Amino acid sequence: LAHSSLAQFHELAKYYDALNDWKDYRAETRVLEAIARRYGRRGKTTWLDVACGTGRHLEYLSRSHFTTGVDGSRDMLRQARRRLPRVRLVLGDMRTFRLRRQFDVVSCLFSAIGHLDAKADVRRAFANFARHVKDGGVVIVEPWIAPDSFRPGAVHLRAHQRPDLTVARMAFSRRRGNHSRIHYHFLIGEPGRAIRHVEEIDHGLLLSPKELQGLMRSVGLRPHFLPRGLTRGRGVLVGVKEEARTSSKLRTPARSR
Ligand SMILES: C[S@@+](CC[C@H](N)C(=O)[O-])C[C@H]1O[C@@H](n2cnc3c(N)ncnc32)[C@H](O)[C@@H]1O
Repeated sequence: LAHSSLAQFHELAKYYDALNDWKDYRAETRVLEAIARRYGRRGKTTWLDVACGTGRHLEYLSRSHFTTGVDGSRDMLRQARRRLPRVRLVLGDMRTFRLRRQFDVVSCLFSAIGHLDAKADVRRAFANFARHVKDGGVVIVEPWIAPDSFRPGAVHLRAHQRPDLTVARMAFSRRRGNHSRIHYHFLIGEPGRAIRHVEEIDHGLLLSPKELQGLMRSVGLRPHFLPRGLTRGRGVLVGVKEEARTSSKLRTPARSR
């Protein structure tokens, strides 16, 4: 897969949950369910989470919905399988996977689309999400940072410590045009082992809510941007797949007679 350089989702996948221990996946899932109810179908739905990672949203979603997960990394899916032995989890690239069925909700969260670095790739991914959602269903995407909010030159630190593991991630952000370039340094300490240092550079594309909405429209989804999303400053993009209106218009008069 094209993104195999993303060490944090491959050889470092088993540290992903530790580095993201600050995230409240349960509360986020409640917000996602409210969005799905508001723009799509109510009640128990079929829900596909693309780029599901270690399955943290799926863990809560699968309590009330029929869930499926897709991710491009075998190592992330291995973590997800341990957490969710009964959920169908499929290895696949978000631009090209094919499940040959449709869902009420398709989500793609925590800026996973930010690992795509060309607009054509984001459009391919959106088209693929649209292909997998039913008429009247919703696509929910948590985008990467918008061009106006990106802070080049910023340094970020995340760290996690417990008796058997100390892990830290420092990130330095740069920008070239509308591309982000994040240089990550990981330090991993485990008792009895020398500290490991892993580096990775992640290129992403900074798209404004307006551009993202345009891309959604171009694949047949009616877009809404919700600025108060899940992660501060990123917002959430909702795309509604309209019911095939012409055919229902044709059917209605026939039935009323
Ligand atoms: C930041 S993590 C988000 C994981 C999860 N959605 C969460 O909220 O914790 C990004 C995920 O996207 C996956 N990913 C990156 N590029 C991908 C692609 N082109 N197709 C499918 N998955 C991809 C990575 O393997 C990783 O699991």
